[in-house]
Amino acid sequence: MTTPLAVTTRSERAGTARHYLMCRPEFFAVSYAINPWMDPLAGADTATAVRQWEGLREAYESLGHTVSLIDPIAGLPDMVFAANGALVVDGRVYGARFTHPERAAEGPAYLRWFADRGYETMEASFTNEGEGDYLTLDEMILAGTGFRTDVAAHMEAQEFLGRPVVTLRLVDPRFYHLDTALFPLDGHNVAYYPEAFSSGSQKVLQRLFPDAVIATAADAEVLGLNAVSDGRHIVVNAEAKELSLELETRGYEVVPVDLSELRKAGGGPKCCTLEIRR
Ligand code: ARG
Repeated sequence: MTTPLAVTTRSERAGTARHYLMCRPEFFAVSYAINPWMDPLAGADTATAVRQWEGLREAYESLGHTVSLIDPIAGLPDMVFAANGALVVDGRVYGARFTHPERAAEGPAYLRWFADRGYETMEASFTNEGEGDYLTLDEMILAGTGFRTDVAAHMEAQEFLGRPVVTLRLVDPRFYHLDTALFPLDGHNVAYYPEAFSSGSQKVLQRLFPDAVIATAADAEVLGLNAVSDGRHIVVNAEAKELSLELETRGYEVVPVDLSELRKAGGGPKCCTLEIRR
């Protein structure tokens, strides 16, 4: 009766330890533009990006998660965005096949990392950008299309992974990957920015997730939806103020990070993080 609701709820949220793959942004730069966030004339500072990225890695480790590293490759400035490298579900690795030639070499590099460690891997026949466009829940995988990932790859991933894939259409070029507009709160619920989706896909999301956290334009515009949840803690861009407040009200522990330098390439915490699901 006198216990604050948020505290009561928080004690009930259960997180689980995760295994993440990350890539230190040693060669990070904004040297081409493949999304509206990128301005090669303005560029970006590599040392600042590395420092901010280290903060993200430390946040994961302090939460008890395991972080593995893949070596960065010179000439691949976006390789820091590990989420795009593959989709890993039940220990099976569906490889990425990038839309833009600038990033093409990243797909084989990530797939090799997994193959070298004994994972069952599959080379994709269709364009897809890994976890950038595939977000995994317990009973389904949500898959984005419209800017990068081909719908044919949704079917291919479903066949390979044996989990239903639900296609969602993205319509705002600022939110070119599904993970810029939506993130799983746990295995059953999500947070998202409705305006990033077609009206049909908005209805699909309403039907599937009547209890979703709905983000504002202000939250989306700082890539607040590019967040990473372990079911209890949510690592999110510090600038996403309204979203953070709402998540706390729902009983989550918000872990704010500053990745402002990486945002100049259109990326946030989730983009830097590929979850390895055993
Ligand atoms: N510059 C990169 C691109 O446009 C950013 C990728 C961000 N990654 C993500 N998972 N949303 O491809």
